[in-house]
Amino acid sequence: MVGKKDKPLFTPGPLTTSTTVKEAMLRDLGSRDGEFIGVVKKIRGRLLKLAGVSQSQGWEAVLMQGSGTFAIESVISSITPPEGKWLVVINGAYGERLLKIIERHGFAVDAIRNAENELPNIASIKSTLAKGGFTHVAVVHCETTSGIMNPVADIGAATKAAGCVYFVDSMSAFGGVEFDFEACQMDFLVSSANKCVQGVPGFGFALCRRAALEATEGYSRTFSLDLLAQWRGLEGNGQFRFTPPTHTLLAFARALDELEGEGGIPARAARYRKNHESCVTGMRAMGFTEYVSEDLQGHIITSFVYPTEDFDFEEFYDRLNDKGFVIYPGKVTKANCFRIGHIGHLFAEDTEMLLSAIREVAGEMGLSLA
Ligand SMILES: Cc1ncc(COP(=O)(O)O)c(C=O)c1O
Repeated sequence: MVGKKDKPLFTPGPLTTSTTVKEAMLRDLGSRDGEFIGVVKKIRGRLLKLAGVSQSQGWEAVLMQGSGTFAIESVISSITPPEGKWLVVINGAYGERLLKIIERHGFAVDAIRNAENELPNIASIKSTLAKGGFTHVAVVHCETTSGIMNPVADIGAATKAAGCVYFVDSMSAFGGVEFDFEACQMDFLVSSANKCVQGVPGFGFALCRRAALEATEGYSRTFSLDLLAQWRGLEGNGQFRFTPPTHTLLAFARALDELEGEGGIPARAARYRKNHESCVTGMRAMGFTEYVSEDLQGHIITSFVYPTEDFDFEEFYDRLNDKGFVIYPGKVTKANCFRIGHIGHLFAEDTEMLLSAIREVAGEMGLSLA
């Protein structure tokens, strides 16, 4: 259960965190302090362990200050050779964001688009890659726009068959979804502190195949987001190159303890799945429907279609907020939706309380649901 003062956040982030994660920040450690350097080193090892890999197997975890997008931009702007060309697989706003970042850096790029409630088409990815000229492929794992879960292993197989570097934005999935990391053949995966590991916001991280990272010498287009330099700093003296988010890192170390204590990714995924299932069951019983079909939908976040054409989401949101629950507006472009997130320090009872509040609000607003 969340603390009394804070409303539970049924959002894609920032997320509700445990009191103990927040309490872990009540210290001031210097960035050169041996204890702090030890915390950072341990976090890097534990992130690899969560993915089921290790440094000795050729993997590196690089931490980068900022929100998740900064880590994405760090990787994209650091790993693209001057003659590189990206293929971006898009079925939502976060895929579009990857494209924008690539374009902003002036890299060559093509995009393959599918509707926001459709999976990427593997055959067209393969045929596009077969035309040649591509060096890198990027896709979003769980498209938080809709909640759809993309087939990162199949896209990985197509990417590798074409000899390309594979980048996955696993921001909202890593730590909360079971998947065989190595089988997906990713070279770079990005996520952030305040998603499924349930730390507080402040940094992102990239899990990098060391050989792919080392091959990027001289490619970085920015000074502060230079991934290779950041890795070398962390490996060299164990420090960030610039002021680290010390408190966030302490909270993250605690969040990793709590993830392990819960039973690791399988247990966390099971809790999120339960949150998702009870939410969908309750919402359907009230007459709401999901935007993404059940077989494609992940358990991270769900988009619900507006129940009526004149549905006033602002009023719905405000009334729920007044009752102490925070949900999220929609982000899909082709339908009017709102979103309910299932991740963070939220449990079955929180979902049940949200559903009761939604029932009350639906009554207050006179929504004529099924
Ligand atoms: C898939 C995905 N990519 C990128 C981001 C952006 O992360 P941030 O807002 O931390 O920059 C998010 C945030 O929810 C996300 O879900």
